[in-house]
Amino acid sequence: MEIYIEDNYDALSKRAVDIIASFLKEKPTAVLGLPTGSTPQKTYEMLAKKCSRGEISFKKVKTFNLDEYSGLSPADRQSYHFFMNKNLFSKTDIDIKNTFFPIDFKPDFKKYDKKIKELGGIDLQLLGIGRDGHIGFNEPGSKFSSKSREISLAKPTIEDNARFFKSIKDVPIKAVTMGIDTIMGAKKIILIASGEKKNQAIFNALEGKASTKVPASIIQRHKNVIVILDKEAARKLNKK
Ligand code: GLP
Repeated sequence: MEIYIEDNYDALSKRAVDIIASFLKEKPTAVLGLPTGSTPQKTYEMLAKKCSRGEISFKKVKTFNLDEYSGLSPADRQSYHFFMNKNLFSKTDIDIKNTFFPIDFKPDFKKYDKKIKELGGIDLQLLGIGRDGHIGFNEPGSKFSSKSREISLAKPTIEDNARFFKSIKDVPIKAVTMGIDTIMGAKKIILIASGEKKNQAIFNALEGKASTKVPASIIQRHKNVIVILDKEAARKLNKK
């Protein structure tokens, strides 16, 4: 596992962008796994700028999003479809037909895993991390062998994500997520985390025992992982 500890959020985002951009230059047909949340926002903004300057292209890229809330239409401003269109897709040359979300495979979410396989598997999976150590919407207790499926959101996740909604009552209580096994199938993983709120989850994920109590700890078992943190998110790590 390669760990980068950057001074701040901007530097962390730049590091992620540099790695993703060189990856796309080497493999313009890459299949990307993508997260939502506030952490990847700057990464997407900088990738979109690189694309508009002609430094990289998403024309032949295919994307699989990690997750989506159940019960929200793609046009809903709180949906992850909307987030991705706003923050990345509409600002690049990607063909929207090549962008996939697990919810669109309802009711048979296993077909999402099948589709990923059909397109050659995920080459590069970008991941954020929840305060409780979740990846995608794989909450604590999710089996390491889990596939894409519908789940119930944990209380800390609903509380954290309430900031994007008018009221906590508006936060969907269910979502569809790639499974942990689906995520681990990616050839390369980049996990990004920023801020003090994430430092316990990062410590547990990187230096704790790999356990379903901390879904992100599974990445310890992946052979090709890069973790990019800012100083606050890295504060509790012993091995720096
Ligand atoms: C959501 C997403 C996760 C994301 C997490 C952290 O729950 N489903 O994929 O990693 O939030 O979000 P943030 O980056 O806003 O802290």
